[in-house]
Amino acid sequence: MYKALIPLFALIATSVLASDLDKRQVLIVTESQRLHVIEEMGALLSGTQNILAALSKGDMAAVNQYASSLGMSMTIKTEDHLKGVLPKEFMQLGIAVHQDFDKIAADALAIKDPKHSLQQLSESMSKCVACHATYQIRTVKTSLKPASKSNHHEH
Ligand code: HEC
Repeated sequence: MYKALIPLFALIATSVLASDLDKRQVLIVTESQRLHVIEEMGALLSGTQNILAALSKGDMAAVNQYASSLGMSMTIKTEDHLKGVLPKEFMQLGIAVHQDFDKIAADALAIKDPKHSLQQLSESMSKCVACHATYQIRTVKTSLKPASKSNHHEH
């Protein structure tokens, strides 16, 4: 009974040390994986800003264009590098945001109501808030790839 508790205490002690005052779940990634996340985040922020500017002018074609660029098509280049590295819940939250942008893009042309788009955007951005409140990213210098090099082709 008591023996079973020791590993649990050891785990808690380790995670308290690792996260300091930041209580969010720590995701360990490599520098290049972190760069993929940062680049995607930059695109999400500037894309969202472009959508807001377009909405303020009632330019729904531009809303469609900027929102589609943040849709599922965006995940093809980034998410592949992160699959299996980041937890499933993290990936699903990210996918949900991209799906929201596809819906915002489609509705911008179909409904053409800036107020509707704004509501969709604000609902979607609660997912940005939720993810940022849940996770923090820390990097390791070494690669996290498996030791076996049999399938790995260096160029
Ligand atoms: C699935 C999780 C997740 C979602 C969803 C998410 N983010 Fe992030 N975001 C992160 C993480 C993790 C970091 C921290 C990366 C770091 O600092 O190493 C981050 C960092 C950022 C940064 C800082 C980038 C930098 O240059 O340091 C911005 C800006 C940002 N996110 C914007 C957004 C916006 C806007 C949305 C929604 C449209 C969003 N994020 C949705 C996980 C997420």
